[in-house]
Amino acid sequence: MTRGTFISFEGIDGAGKSTHIERVAALFRQAGRAVVLTREPGGTALSEKLRELVLHEPMDALTEALLMFAARREHLVQVIEPALARGDVVLCDRFTDATFAYQGGGRGFDWQVLLQLERMVQTSPDGLLRQPELTVWFDLDPQIAAERLASARVPDKFESQPTAFFAAVRAGYARRQTDMPERFARIDAAQTREAVGADVARAVQAFLERGRA
Ligand code: TYD
Repeated sequence: MTRGTFISFEGIDGAGKSTHIERVAALFRQAGRAVVLTREPGGTALSEKLRELVLHEPMDALTEALLMFAARREHLVQVIEPALARGDVVLCDRFTDATFAYQGGGRGFDWQVLLQLERMVQTSPDGLLRQPELTVWFDLDPQIAAERLASARVPDKFESQPTAFFAAVRAGYARRQTDMPERFARIDAAQTREAVGADVARAVQAFLERGRA
C-alpha cells in the first residue's frame, strides 16, 4: 500500500514561507513524487469562501475558530485524505498549528476547546488523529516581520494586527512545538533567503531519512 506524506508550513505573517514551499515542491517532484500544494484556510471551493469571510469580516472568537475548523474539515475530506491515500505528498501552507497560534495565542481563545475541536475535525477514518508528519516553522521576531510586511500589499484582518498580537502568535507556535517536538522543525527565518532555503531543505531531508530508518 502506498503511503502519502503530509508536511505543513507555519509562521507569523511576514515570516516568508511562500517561496520556500515552492522549492520543497520542486524537490519532491524531482524525486518523482506527485505533489499537492494547498493552503489553509482554503484548499477547496467552499473552504476558499470561508477564507474570504474569516480574513475580512470582524467576528466573535468562537465563530472564527469554528470557521477555521469548518474550512479544515472540508479540506481534509475533499483534498488531503484522498491525496494521502493515493500516496501523494501534501504540502500545506498552514494547518492546525495556525489555529492554536492565531486563535489560541493571538486571540487568547481557550486552548482546551481548540484541542477538542482538533480531535473532532481531524480524526481520520482509521481512528487516528490526522496531523502533519513534519511541520516546518518559520520563526521570526515580530518586529522584523512587521518591517517586512510594511512594504507589502493591503493587509487583511490578521496582517493589520499590532506587533504584540504576533508576539502572542509566536508564543502559540512555541507552545505547540514544546507539546509535539518530534514533528516540528524550527527554522530561523531572520537569516538570508538562501540560508533559510538551505535549512528548510536540510529539515525535509532529515525527515525523509528518519522515515527510511
Ligand atoms: P496567509 O497564509 O499568510 O496567506 P497570505 O500569504 O495570502 O496572506 O494568510 C492566512 C491568514 O489566516 C494568516 O494571517 C493566519 C490566519 N490563520 C488563522 O488565524 N488561523 C488558522 O487556522 C489559519 C489556517 C490561518
